[in-house]
Amino acid sequence: MKCVDDFRLRLGRHELVPIMIGGMGVDISTADLALVAARLGGVGHISDAMVPTISDRRYNTKYVKDKLKLYKYNVANADKSDVQFDLALLAEATETHVRHTMEAKRGDGMILINCMEKLTMNAPKETLRVRLRSALDAGIDGITLAAGLHLGSFALIEDHPRFRDAQLGIIVSSLRALQLFIKKSARTNRLPDYVVVEGPLAGGHLGFGMDWAEYDLATIVAEIQAWLTAEKLDIPLIPAGGIFTGGDATAFLEQGAAAVQVATRFTVAKECGLPDDVKQEYFKASEDDIEVNGISPTGYPMRMLKGSPAIGDGIRPNCEAYGYILDANGHCQYIDAYNREVAAHPTEKKIKVPDKTCLCTHMRNFDLWTCGHYTYRLKDTSARLADGCYALLTAEHIFNDYRFSKGNTLAQSSEVTAS
Ligand SMILES: Cc1cc2nc3c(=O)[nH]c(=O)nc-3n(C[C@H](O)[C@H](O)[C@H](O)COP(=O)(O)O)c2cc1C
Repeated sequence: MKCVDDFRLRLGRHELVPIMIGGMGVDISTADLALVAARLGGVGHISDAMVPTISDRRYNTKYVKDKLKLYKYNVANADKSDVQFDLALLAEATETHVRHTMEAKRGDGMILINCMEKLTMNAPKETLRVRLRSALDAGIDGITLAAGLHLGSFALIEDHPRFRDAQLGIIVSSLRALQLFIKKSARTNRLPDYVVVEGPLAGGHLGFGMDWAEYDLATIVAEIQAWLTAEKLDIPLIPAGGIFTGGDATAFLEQGAAAVQVATRFTVAKECGLPDDVKQEYFKASEDDIEVNGISPTGYPMRMLKGSPAIGDGIRPNCEAYGYILDANGHCQYIDAYNREVAAHPTEKKIKVPDKTCLCTHMRNFDLWTCGHYTYRLKDTSARLADGCYALLTAEHIFNDYRFSKGNTLAQSSEVTAS
């Protein structure tokens, strides 16, 4: 019986262990987590979601405070079109995060940055261009263009000196999305170096509607594989979403996938950015505690724990400090929902907003507990301590479990490390 370690992923000149840890914003997939994957010969991701916040937290900068100071006059204003990102500071924050990470990199693996294109930041094209270019400037091995795929992204960096040598990949959830991207990018004469095919069981935002349960990862991967073969295109395919064991991963590799992208198993790693008490919520979750809902103001369905403090919360929008979801006209669906509730309950001090959430604030505070479908199986990967908590795992332990285990076994819980 084969295991993941019997396969290798070829990306450019690199030969890699075919395990990619997916990007998890905001700073859930930390530099430390990505560094473990790279040290062990695989692929790690950092995320560029709310990177000024990450820089403030990790590198002692004050981007968020300064931006709030600048736009304080607008806090009570429903119109957020004034609130703009300073592009030079955005570049600086991205470079700081990427450079620190790359300087710490050891081993033969790679570190990529997950770039969420649905973060429209009140100037979608300009801010995306800066984010992509400054990550390349700071030496990132490659970029994964994630959800909300902006079809013109390659064109934004085609004149960058690293455009042809950095690894550039995309995440899609359908053959149609891939076809559109390739058609739109044809002019740049460059194909993606890899394609992550994300199915409906993934964490974070989903590339499906609320009918996500009618789709199946293996079917989508097979469809894309058949099309690539027919078109004589040789692009590594990397399935993602619900790959929980080494056996699950090996099954995809045996079917011709180049690697797998995984994330949920690593949410309970010591190196993961979630606070320890939130990691315990992930461990404790049962299948009934997880839902896919429509509260993200991006308009995409998102999977999360039903107990997330973000659900129903009616905090005043924080766009002056954050503002990552503001569209090109300074709109965000949460602002509308919030204003509607304020108008309906004029005397109430603390209002509730049931249908949308202030994504920036709650992701920043780790109050929106997004997770993959199989989060309820995390408890099977650990052991309970005397105080009733689950022991955290090291990222190396989880990585090696994917890499070497056979069948649907999970590594012995005796190998876990106490938190
Ligand atoms: C906590 C969490 C946060 C995530 N955040 C992002 C994100 O910011 N951008 C993104 O493209 N994918 C995100 N994802 C999706 C993962 O990168 C990955 O593709 C997917 O979850 C893999 O499926 P699995 O979690 O079942 O292993 C997130 C997943 C989780 C669990």
